[in-house]
Amino acid sequence: MKKILAIESSCDETAASLIETEEHSESFEIKILSNIIASQIDIHKKWGGVFPELASRAHLETMIPVLTESLSDNLENIQEVDSLTVTKGPGLIGSLLMGTEAVNLLASLYQKPIIEVNHLEGHIYAAFARGQEFTITKQDIFPILALVVSGGHTSLIFMKDHLQYEVVAQTIDDAAGEAFDKVSKIMNLGYPGGPIIEKLAQSGNENAYQLPIGLKNELNFSFSGLKTAVLYLTKDPKTQEALEFNPGDLAASFQKTVVDTLILKTKKAIEEFAPKTLILSGGVSANSYLRKRFSRELSKFIPEESILIPPKNLSTDNAVGIAIAGAIKEKFSSYVEADPNLKL
Ligand code: KG4
Ligand code: ZN
Repeated sequence: MKKILAIESSCDETAASLIETEEHSESFEIKILSNIIASQIDIHKKWGGVFPELASRAHLETMIPVLTESLSDNLENIQEVDSLTVTKGPGLIGSLLMGTEAVNLLASLYQKPIIEVNHLEGHIYAAFARGQEFTITKQDIFPILALVVSGGHTSLIFMKDHLQYEVVAQTIDDAAGEAFDKVSKIMNLGYPGGPIIEKLAQSGNENAYQLPIGLKNELNFSFSGLKTAVLYLTKDPKTQEALEFNPGDLAASFQKTVVDTLILKTKKAIEEFAPKTLILSGGVSANSYLRKRFSRELSKFIPEESILIPPKNLSTDNAVGIAIAGAIKEKFSSYVEADPNLKL
């Protein structure tokens, strides 16, 4: 049994998690001991998006309290930890530095090795979490096709084995979560857009507005045309005059078009790469309408039990996924440097 302490601070959540892990010849046993997340939504709400300087300042203030809480309210419990795992990138440099510097300091103070994790690996591995205790097998789940949909990324990732990633498609402009946030701003609904639009969409007719699917015949994604189409339904592009629209119907039609797009591309990738396991993760995967349609429509191709979606609280940014990826990785260093543009 080994204990791993993980920190995630790449954007606007300060998160820490302690897990226990045991490696067997065929599998990893994982037990989640803590999962602490301090959200900065209230700080960034009035700016309509993440304000980077305020994000780093908030990480600085909450890092020690979050870490202490993740260690049963006693920072000295870190003595029992075997290794420290942290998000190296990608993300906001000021935010990432708060996590990596905390880990560098703790590693040298307490003589602990560091495991560096990519934020996207954290999203992918969060999808394996089932309750507090679960098993991740080493072989019979591959190849995996993972759709990561967040505020910064919309990527289809093909994995022949644990920790082996090939990005087979990504967005050429906005990420899916970014599109939710921007459309919410266009409609004056607030931040973050995803949960607000999901709620508003419940009362709308998803077929009221016909909206475009970007790059229909390709694997790559594009959401900027969809965003502009929504903009032009709310404001005349020539006169800039406000137009009348039904907010519920527009939210529902927009959400449906994003989900149609994600399912269409994933289906194409399933045909091309014939995966055994399908993963849906990242902040947008907290969306119930997406979760439902993704499972229902893609279980025609992949058995339902092989479609992995994290519990909703592990869809958005958290440190549990970072801890699990760290447990699988076990590649140690003594110092970690943040990299805002880190590739998988
Ligand atoms: O993974 P995440 O927490 O942070 C990044 O790595 O970006 O994702 C945040 C994104 C935001 O754009 C947010 O609007 C979106 O995920 N999101 C949602 C929902 N909850 C969060 N999008 C659609 N429906 C939701 N329920
Ligand atoms: Zn994320």
